Amino acid sequence: MARSGTGVLILAAGKGTRMKSDTPKVLLPLLEEPLLYYPLVSTDSPDFSGRGVVVGHGSDKVSDYLEKSWPGSEVIEQKQQLGTGHAVAAARKWIGRFDHVLIIPGDVPLLGRETLSMLHSRHLEGDEDCTFLVFEPDDPSGYGRVIHTEKGFRIVEEKDAMEHEKKCGRVNGGIYAFRTTVLLEHIDSLGKDNAQGEYYLTDVIHDLCQEGKKIRMLLCPDPEEIEGVNDPQQLDVMSRRLRKRILAKHMSCGVKCVDSESVWVGPGVRLGEDVMLDPFVQLWGDTYLGKGSRIGSFSIVRNSIIGENVHLLGHVVLNDSEIQNDARVGPFSFIREGSVLREGAYVGKFVEVKKSVIGKRSKVPHLSYVGDATLGEDVNIGAGTITCNYDGVKKNPSVIGDGCFVGSDTMLVAPVTLGEGAYTAAGSVITRDVPPGSLAIGRARQKNIEGWSARPKGPKEEGE
Ligand code: UD1
Ligand code: CA
Repeated sequence: MARSGTGVLILAAGKGTRMKSDTPKVLLPLLEEPLLYYPLVSTDSPDFSGRGVVVGHGSDKVSDYLEKSWPGSEVIEQKQQLGTGHAVAAARKWIGRFDHVLIIPGDVPLLGRETLSMLHSRHLEGDEDCTFLVFEPDDPSGYGRVIHTEKGFRIVEEKDAMEHEKKCGRVNGGIYAFRTTVLLEHIDSLGKDNAQGEYYLTDVIHDLCQEGKKIRMLLCPDPEEIEGVNDPQQLDVMSRRLRKRILAKHMSCGVKCVDSESVWVGPGVRLGEDVMLDPFVQLWGDTYLGKGSRIGSFSIVRNSIIGENVHLLGHVVLNDSEIQNDARVGPFSFIREGSVLREGAYVGKFVEVKKSVIGKRSKVPHLSYVGDATLGEDVNIGAGTITCNYDGVKKNPSVIGDGCFVGSDTMLVAPVTLGEGAYTAAGSVITRDVPPGSLAIGRARQKNIEGWSARPKGPKEEGE
């Protein structure tokens, strides 16, 4: 097959020993997305003709994630993790399909699309054999130091470095562009005579310098961008940094925060103009908020679509659902998977809604459970109403037509249908369908026993 274009190879096979976790490092969550999500997003660009991910440690789980969420990526297995050079060698066949390859680690979440595109274009414009990113962090420990030699430079890992080499503040970012013919000529001849007994990809750079190949080093102006995540402390630092960056971007597009220090917004969340976020709000996953909506304090929203001018009044938990324009929710509501609140609907205090549609302008103001139900327009659900949807075996539907008035404390024993404009009396247990326009009363008739307080009484018993 003829070579063409540039491929991106993400190295994600390492164990991440310092994390001390059973979860493969690249699947550890950072703002509720796996670490690997970040390089996948930043390399999701038409500039690249293909993307491969080298997996190894926990490869089943990592491959599952890739297949499910990033079907365009090719999975390359590195059976044993013998170093970054070994990981690249495992992908030699895949690399051979391209003229150039960008190699990036799976654990540098802040690496931006612009930086990668800069690296790529400088590499091509300069017709380089290798271009790689370096940076000058406040604390260089843990990184490979870039040491100048007669013929160029070599990269010395922390564990192999002599004391004077450790003082060098310029370090390798682990992000490279290679001409594939040149890379493939050298990748199989790496040695492992070093402190970790690993095949280091960085040794290729030294070999290329020795041969007088064209190598360029680019200084990344923002060192935070290429910092890796290797232990729980770094994960925590990264999480705060990323949070700040994400919010700054949204605020520059018109999102307002009462206290941005306490708000958390995940990387995949999209926010319309003039969205207002109260203190202690969390927005995660694939969530969208339309213009002018406001999210009240202590609300947590995941994978949901919120229209324009929606108000979550606080303490709302909203998962995998849709809230259409002008609807109001809360405080203290739980809206679960597969629910839709249509325009102008209201779900209020201590109400749980699951897999249900609440029609336009319909109200469930307090203390209700609405599950597997379809409510039409302008329905009013009285306090304490419950859809008894589960018979111990299966979940059954309730259908409540337009304009129905469900009296307080009604038990709707599903499957059941209330026709358009039907009423139920407060405290009813509704087991049969109610025809349109009728009133259903399903409760014991009240009996008053007169003179009850004056009845003969025995001696009062002790106690409470
Ligand atoms: C590497 C560089 C170092 C650089 C640093 C920047 C080498 C030898 N060192 O060190 O110069 O300063 O990155 O962050 O390359 N991986 C595999 N298979 C393996 C080993 C690693 O896929 O057998 C993957 C890891 O999952 C990780 C990436 O390669 O995503 C980097 O490996 P890591 O062990 O973190 O390298 P560093 O010690 O950080
Ligand atoms: Ca690393």
